[in-house]
Amino acid sequence: MSLLTIENVDFKYAGSCDPSLKNINLNLESNSLNVVIGPSGIGKTTLLNLIAGYDHPSTGQIKMAGKAIDQPDWQRGMVFQDMALFPWLTVADNILFGPKMRHLNDPEIQDRLARLLAQTGLTDYRDAAIYELSGGLKQRVALAREFINRPPILMLDESFSALDNATRSDMHDILLNLWETTQNCVIAITHDIDEALFLGQNIIVINQHPGTIVSVEANPYFKKDISDLSGEPAYGAFRRRLLGLIGKPKNR
Ligand SMILES: Nc1ncnc2c1ncn2[C@@H]1O[C@H](COP(=O)(O)OP(=O)(O)O)[C@@H](O)[C@H]1O
Ligand SMILES: [Mg+2]
Repeated sequence: MSLLTIENVDFKYAGSCDPSLKNINLNLESNSLNVVIGPSGIGKTTLLNLIAGYDHPSTGQIKMAGKAIDQPDWQRGMVFQDMALFPWLTVADNILFGPKMRHLNDPEIQDRLARLLAQTGLTDYRDAAIYELSGGLKQRVALAREFINRPPILMLDESFSALDNATRSDMHDILLNLWETTQNCVIAITHDIDEALFLGQNIIVINQHPGTIVSVEANPYFKKDISDLSGEPAYGAFRRRLLGLIGKPKNR
């Protein structure tokens, strides 16, 4: 059985005439890195909100490990672009917030904290206040704060889109490293085709109105350095095909 199953899901916001999502079917496994890409306003964030349990499908169902998702919980973590860290808490206290809410404060959690600080390059910032950090460092805290819960599903909603190229590339490496050690199911939204090609083992394309999944692509260029690929015709063709699928919404 897949970790996450989405069956025949439609979703319409209360008060809106048209559905935002239509006929969504998707199975995702643990230990997979999935990128969702599509035009702006197509329903990508809406889909993550349904998986998180912030909203519920109008029809169809979403299950995690066979169980219908009825409300948000730590098993499905979310990293937002604006991060929503607690500015008055230190780096360590931000990361420990989730476990504290669950009354977990055993040596295992302290151990996870130390490892996460090292993996995200934050060891020296452990006791720093959030307002002292750059945007890139804050995003590292946001990632660590989710990973400490070991959520079977971790979602990122354009989490790196506000970062400069070098910082974004560091974040990609950090995310891949964390994912490799936890082997969870990551679902990352991006509108950047090159980010999708680097980070997505599977690339899920949403398009059309109402939003639906128009393709799920196994990506042969996952984790490959773009500078080694730009001269490769097959890479160029794959990238162009994806751009075509992402293109402007069809059937409007
Ligand atoms: N809270 C809401 N109430 C009504 N409509 C919404 C709400 N949030 C988003 N929408 C609409 O749903 C559609 C999909 O939005 P969204 O999921 O945010 O798209 P994306 O993340 O792909 O840019 C858009 O047409 C948007 O206007
Ligand atoms: Mg969005």
